[in-house]
Amino acid sequence: MNYSDKVMDHFINPRNVGELENPDGVGQVGNVNCGDIMRMTIKVVDNRITDINFKTFGCGAAIAVSSMVTEMVKGKTLEEAVLINRDDVAVALGGLPDKKLHCSNLGTDALKAAVNDFWRRTGQPQKVVKLEDEHLEQESEEASACCGSNERGCGQPSNGNPA
Ligand code: FES
Repeated sequence: MNYSDKVMDHFINPRNVGELENPDGVGQVGNVNCGDIMRMTIKVVDNRITDINFKTFGCGAAIAVSSMVTEMVKGKTLEEAVLINRDDVAVALGGLPDKKLHCSNLGTDALKAAVNDFWRRTGQPQKVVKLEDEHLEQESEEASACCGSNERGCGQPSNGNPA
């Protein structure tokens, strides 16, 4: 499978990997077909995302998507952030193979789940947006389902070849 230089860059050098302490919102989603899981934690100040981290147990494209989403939404208002869709992320990454577009959905939906979590926590449930896909797991404050392993995902790829 051919990946753009940007995908490879974000896969090999993922930005904003990890989990924020005392996040204002947590979103965790899992793709029903491949079983891959993505978790995002956000900090919100004055209605803007001031910090965001991700953990992804998934394919190389999912790791690149996670990394790109965190860069795209930092500094944006919550309303601006949830407007970003999978095509915006794919374009920002210089394209994704058709087979990997669902990985892009996982990224935007993990972000939306985190923002929804913030809105629910802060008494604004009317703002909650719909996710693009159905997922194995949705908004969750449970401990991370990430394997914590460097072998696959978690932003710590063990080789240079995304799946
Ligand atoms: S997120 Fe499952 S194959 Fe990419």
